[in-house]
Amino acid sequence: MPEQDKRTNALSIVTRIAALFIMAVLVVLFFAFAKPVGPPAEAQTAATAAQQTVVGKDCQQCHRIIVQSFALDTHGKSAKFLKDSRGAKCEVCHANSDKHAETSTKTTSKGDVGNPGKLGSAEANQSCLQCHAMDRTHFSWRGGKHDRSDMSCLSCHNVHHVKLLGRAWAHLADTPEREAAEIINTKLPEKMLTSFSVEETCLSCHIERRKDFFQRSTHLFRTELRNMKVGCTSCHNPHGGEGGKMLVDLTVNNVCYTCHAEKRGPFLWEHPPVRENCLNCHSPHGSSNPKLLTARVHLLCQQCHIHMLPRHSTTAGKPLDIFSINRGCANCHGQVHGSNHPGGRTFGR
Ligand code: HEC
Ligand code: HEC
Ligand code: HEC
Ligand code: HEC
Ligand code: HEC
Ligand code: HEC
Ligand code: HEC
Ligand code: HEC
Ligand code: HEC
Ligand code: HEC
Repeated sequence: MPEQDKRTNALSIVTRIAALFIMAVLVVLFFAFAKPVGPPAEAQTAATAAQQTVVGKDCQQCHRIIVQSFALDTHGKSAKFLKDSRGAKCEVCHANSDKHAETSTKTTSKGDVGNPGKLGSAEANQSCLQCHAMDRTHFSWRGGKHDRSDMSCLSCHNVHHVKLLGRAWAHLADTPEREAAEIINTKLPEKMLTSFSVEETCLSCHIERRKDFFQRSTHLFRTELRNMKVGCTSCHNPHGGEGGKMLVDLTVNNVCYTCHAEKRGPFLWEHPPVRENCLNCHSPHGSSNPKLLTARVHLLCQQCHIHMLPRHSTTAGKPLDIFSINRGCANCHGQVHGSNHPGGRTFGR
């Protein structure tokens, strides 16, 4: 190897060692200075303390499963972080629970502990609304049809809903926390409902709606994954909606337009009953006629357009057949919701 190359080689080794050394110093310096940055020590310990506090520590020895499952639920999780009055601690909903915890034994309950589940609906609701009255979805609860029907939040919600798991919930206490959380989050209904789905919750009272699920034409169909695509709460707000019948919008048509926007128009040729109310021809839930219609097409149209036979006798030889076959009147009047075609006065195109 030539002398020149050897020297440059030696030089580059020296520079490399030097570079490594400087880097090492920098790393040490970085950690030395980085440490004090971040949350102040006292805030850090406060945060870990909050996470370690078990909501209902004093209740655990006698209500072990309730306390353990509560920690994994929305209320329990929020109580860990919310220090203000929105933190849902046991005593917020259960009056006198301190005295009860001190005086009770494992088998006898003492101290007259409050239980919203045993209160009248007005009082039970009050125990929930102390925090939830300001939720956007609850603005119209008071005075809504459900409120006026003497129902309570507990008609549809179950705070300790882990009980829904039936006998299986007894084993939850022995399940590792991660797995238990998994069960609570996936096996139990969302929003702490009393049934396993929104629909089942509603049907427990509105049994007359169950048939809609099985009708020839229905809004209440499921996807391949068996999820509801359109469910009760797509159109209704169970806490009291804006419009009549607790609808989520002020008018029926506005509710329908949220998904069927193309029916909103404006159209060059309007069909008055469509503008007025979709329910002039459709039932919102389910129907034994196609397309959710309230009657077979020709009968439906002739509720308003009487004496159509003479007017149509020239269009075909046998008007009766063309009226009832296939899509009926819609065979020719296909744009019943309105037309933008210059020649669409009779909704033929
Ligand atoms: C020393 C045991 C013990 C402790 C501690 C205890 N409880 Fe109880 N509690 C009982 C017994 C026994 C009952 C009656 C049987 C049952 O419902 O499980 C009961 C019942 C209840 C009920 C239902 C009352 C009713 O009338 O339906 C509530 C609510 C309750 N406890 C809340 C609490 C809360 C909150 C705490 C903690 C602050 C607590 N308990 C601590 C023993 C205890
Ligand atoms: C947000 C309000 C709320 C909070 C917070 C709450 N509970 Fe309850 N609790 C209820 C309601 C409502 C019932 C009545 C039945 C139901 O909805 O599950 C109930 C029922 C109970 C019962 C009676 C169980 C039975 O079998 O009927 C016990 C025991 C109880 N709660 C203990 C606790 C303990 C312990 C805590 C704290 C870890 C707690 N609760 C926190 C609302 C609450
Ligand atoms: C101390 C305050 C407080 C009380 C009392 C309270 N909640 Fe809550 N609740 C919360 C907070 C905080 C949340 C979580 C954030 C949110 O959704 O607003 C919550 C969430 C919920 C949820 C949504 C759960 C989810 O998984 O999204 C339901 C349902 C609910 N509460 C029902 C009730 C019912 C029923 C009562 C009365 C028995 C009640 N709450 C009483 C504070 C409270
Ligand atoms: C008629 C049944 C019913 C009643 C009564 C009812 N809820 Fe609900 N609640 C529901 C349903 C269903 C949902 C889920 C909505 C969704 O996910 O589409 C829900 C959701 C919630 C949520 C989660 C936030 C939200 O709006 O999605 C809270 C909080 C809540 N309810 C609190 C309450 C309180 C407080 C009361 C009593 C004042 C109450 N509910 C009464 C059926 C009811
Ligand atoms: C605990 C029973 C119960 C449950 C559960 C229940 N409802 Fe109701 N609902 C009622 C009662 C009672 C009325 C009033 C009936 C009447 O006056 O004709 C009512 C009325 C209604 C109305 C008509 C409102 C009006 O202005 O006429 C709608 C819409 C409705 N409920 C939707 C729902 C939905 C959606 C759910 C599920 C999230 C649900 N309900 C769950 C009892 C219940
Ligand atoms: C596509 C929207 C839509 C869906 C989804 C829907 N509804 Fe309705 N529902 C309506 C409309 C619109 C009305 C109003 C009917 C009227 O004004 O006469 C209504 C009326 C009602 C009424 C009042 C009584 C009646 O039959 O007129 C009840 C109760 C009701 N719905 C319950 C439910 C339940 C329970 C579900 C879920 C199984 C559900 N609805 C799903 C749109 C819907
Ligand atoms: C949450 C969204 C949503 C709302 C709100 C809604 N729909 Fe639908 N609607 C659908 C979906 C999704 C379908 C199925 C479309 C498909 O099969 O291509 C459907 C289908 C229909 C059908 C055809 C049914 C059939 O058997 O082919 C009619 C008619 C209909 N909706 C009318 C209405 C009316 C009237 C309203 C208002 C009361 C309304 N929809 C509100 C989502 C909605
Ligand atoms: C005058 C009666 C009438 C009124 C009012 C009416 N429809 Fe229809 N609708 C029909 C008929 C008839 C069909 C079936 C058409 C066919 O077979 O091609 C239909 C079909 C539908 C369909 C399924 C096929 C399609 O065109 O997408 C939807 C969605 C629908 N209507 C939504 C609505 C909405 C939303 C409203 C309110 C804005 C409404 N309808 C008002 C008569 C009506
Ligand atoms: C609730 C009553 C009602 C129902 C149901 C109804 N229509 Fe109409 N229809 C009207 C009204 C009102 C007009 C406007 C009449 C006018 O301008 O002279 C109209 C106009 C029409 C026109 C245009 C007539 C013209 O001279 O401009 C046609 C075509 C038509 N409707 C077809 C139908 C068909 C097809 C159906 C069934 C799918 C139907 N209608 C259902 C009330 C109804
Ligand atoms: C075979 C096609 C066909 C069928 C089916 C059909 N129509 Fe027509 N209809 C027509 C034609 C074509 C016209 C005349 C259109 C024009 O003048 O632009 C018409 C006109 C009308 C008019 C407007 C009458 C006027 O005074 O201007 C109404 C309303 C109407 N039809 C309602 C119905 C009803 C209701 C049914 C079902 C019971 C129906 N049509 C079935 C083809 C049909």
